[in-house]
Amino acid sequence: MEHQVASLQERAAAELGAAGSLAVLESWHQRYLGRRGQLANLLRRVGQMPEQERPAFGRLVHGVQAALQAAYNDRAAVLQEQELLAHARQDRVDVTMPGRRPAQGALHPVTQVLREMQEAFLALGFQVWEGPEVESDRYNFELLNMPPHHPARGMQDTIYLDTPALHTGPGGAPAPGALLLRTHTSPNQVRIMRELQPPLRVVVPGKVYRYEQIDPSHNWMFSQCEGFAVDRHITLADLKGTIAAVLGHVFGPHRPLRFRCDYFPYVEPGVDTAVQCVLCAGAGCRLCKNTGWLEVMPAGMIHPNVLRNCGIDPQRYSGFAFGAGPDRIAAVRWQIEDIRHLYQGDLRFIRQFRSLMGRPG
Ligand code: DAH
Repeated sequence: MEHQVASLQERAAAELGAAGSLAVLESWHQRYLGRRGQLANLLRRVGQMPEQERPAFGRLVHGVQAALQAAYNDRAAVLQEQELLAHARQDRVDVTMPGRRPAQGALHPVTQVLREMQEAFLALGFQVWEGPEVESDRYNFELLNMPPHHPARGMQDTIYLDTPALHTGPGGAPAPGALLLRTHTSPNQVRIMRELQPPLRVVVPGKVYRYEQIDPSHNWMFSQCEGFAVDRHITLADLKGTIAAVLGHVFGPHRPLRFRCDYFPYVEPGVDTAVQCVLCAGAGCRLCKNTGWLEVMPAGMIHPNVLRNCGIDPQRYSGFAFGAGPDRIAAVRWQIEDIRHLYQGDLRFIRQFRSLMGRPG
């Protein structure tokens, strides 16, 4: 029997030394030291032995058990450490690896232009307001000196709504006139002048809508930025100075500007402001249709009738107004040959403007 125990111990010790992983070690433990393991089996056989041999045999087996358990503990500690190290080597973090760039968005070109214009206007003391896109005929046309049947209404093809006017006039009576999508941001001149008293310096950016045959330079929806100033002694010189400051901020201070007469029913005189073509510097090209100039900012001195419609006395006050076209400004600045790209939501187009946040010199 003793011989059997000794050879068992020897075998167990050899296998333990060869166990290369914790999993193998566990199955070794079960085989030798487990409740149904080989040593337990030997002990179970004690009953069949002569009485006087039992204590010595018991001590022998328990001694072997203790020795194997101790050897097992040592081996387990070594293997645990090895496996930990192997793991650590696998999961090692390379701190010198370049990081992943976070996805970066880009501002829409029209937003970039609008923000630059707003920066310039804010520096000149203008406030920024907003107005409704669904407008009444009254504000969009009538109060801007375009009564029904005024031929100038034909300058802007209008999208009318089927919905009857939802709002009511004084005394609960239905307000006159149909509802429409505003064709320009100019009705905000009237809205704001009716609400606030001069002195006023306000810009109102927003979307406008026209019943338009769309082509590379016409869209049924586009952006405008209305602006106006009303105070005592405002003159055409104030208009020129303001527009020159803002266009200088957007196109760079050295780009020549041109001011010419134009006609809009809500201003007198009307002015058309153009910047020298950014592509040909005035020589004439496709972008400027061979004129050398790009018209970007119609304007004028606010018509006395409009001031009167807003309860402002044209004898005491005067003002100028303008309606910039940020889409057109973006298109000429970045030479976008088809403005329909601006609102198609195609990221491949929009992403091109990511690196163009700075303004050209
Ligand atoms: N409302 C005009 C348009 O959409 C632009 C405009 C012209 C606005 C002259 C003005 C102005 O304020 O004075 O075509």
